Amino acid sequence: MTDIVELDTLVPDFNSDPHPHYAALRARGPVHRVRLSDGQEVWLIVGHDEARAALVDPRLRKDWSAHPQWQPAAGAGQLLANMLQSDPPRHTRLRRLVSRAFTPGAVDALRPAVQQITDGLIDTMLAKAAQDGRADLVESLAYPLPMTVICELLGVPDLDRERFRHWSNAFVTANGPSGRDGGNGAEAELARYMAQLVEAKRRSPGPDLFSTLVRTTDEDGDRLSGEELVGMAFLLLVAGHETTVGLIANGVLALLRHPDQLAALRADFGLLDNAVEEMLRYDGPVETSTWRYAGEPVEIGGTVLPAGDTVVVGLSSAARDAARFETADRFDITRDTRGHLAFGHGIHYCLGAPLARLEGRIAVRTLLERCPDLALDADPGTLAWRPGILMRGPVRLPVRVR
Ligand code: HEM
Repeated sequence: MTDIVELDTLVPDFNSDPHPHYAALRARGPVHRVRLSDGQEVWLIVGHDEARAALVDPRLRKDWSAHPQWQPAAGAGQLLANMLQSDPPRHTRLRRLVSRAFTPGAVDALRPAVQQITDGLIDTMLAKAAQDGRADLVESLAYPLPMTVICELLGVPDLDRERFRHWSNAFVTANGPSGRDGGNGAEAELARYMAQLVEAKRRSPGPDLFSTLVRTTDEDGDRLSGEELVGMAFLLLVAGHETTVGLIANGVLALLRHPDQLAALRADFGLLDNAVEEMLRYDGPVETSTWRYAGEPVEIGGTVLPAGDTVVVGLSSAARDAARFETADRFDITRDTRGHLAFGHGIHYCLGAPLARLEGRIAVRTLLERCPDLALDADPGTLAWRPGILMRGPVRLPVRVR
């Protein structure tokens, strides 16, 4: 009989610092059967080598529509017609359609735009803080920067940001392969909104990525169906909304909590690229992978995961595995960070990694240059953290900017 570990992932104690919980699990073995706060049972992989193996195992599937017991939430179907919820050959086809827009070269061309958006946000933050010197780094920089960039890249500058933020947040907070328990009809509403965006783009295309995708559908219908177009736009917008915010917020928090590392970075911005990798490793924004299921019995780390069972890969846990990273709990911007799984691994490796890195590097450097006295304005123990096990980051990050 397999022991079932209760993992209450919605309580503040877990969300404020899940690392000791994962360390306790790793001490007992690399793979565990866990019951989440909503009663769902999943296999959670917490060891680094086992996590890496799981991420490249083709027997662990992503296409939930092929799972015998799969019941998508009403309206979620078309949102899930995206590459992250697909297996080859559909995954290969969908990824190829947009991969050119996200190569390091293509992303580097966005550098001036990302810098300009960052400068504008920091100008506004400093102007607002003119009186009391205080700001919330999440609201003023970490959230709006990636969101503005992805909206401009896709060509939806007029996105209804407040509503989208609400839906997107409900989607990633719910436990599930995504879209299963987002609940309250949010999926149906969101799918309708996405379809309207597609329609608007069809009527007035521009020089943006979304228009290119719409043209791909219209000119060669069997390459990207209407459903896949909605799914693609949705995935890119959610990824742009939910992830890089945590890279910037968790990363700046780590720097502020480790003054020696902050001083080292300020003294030598040649360390910046590696510092951002260490931020991703030490406290990455994507705590666990999206959900997979075993298409057949799969043995990982000495445990057989039965066919049909759900499998979740603990990315944050893998990052603290001492068998892979020496003194793994130490934040050290000069360490060898190679092999961290913050962007996943294998065929679903993050498509947006070059963009996320560009945004993270520009945000951190510009913030430190513009705010020489940057300091935390809260006891770190009192910060509220995002609930759930998919995304990791503080809800607000109060700082002193002068
Ligand atoms: C620091 C920021 C980011 C982190 C840590 C991150 C992390 C990840 C991870 C872990 C995966 C794989 C999930 C799995 O295998 O279950 C993934 C996939 C993906 N990410 Fe990111 N991501 C970030 C930013 C972005 C951005 C800005 C985009 C923008 C467009 C993006 C687009 C995607 C896409 C499209 C996939 C699916 C790839 C596929 O299925 O082939 N990500 N990301």
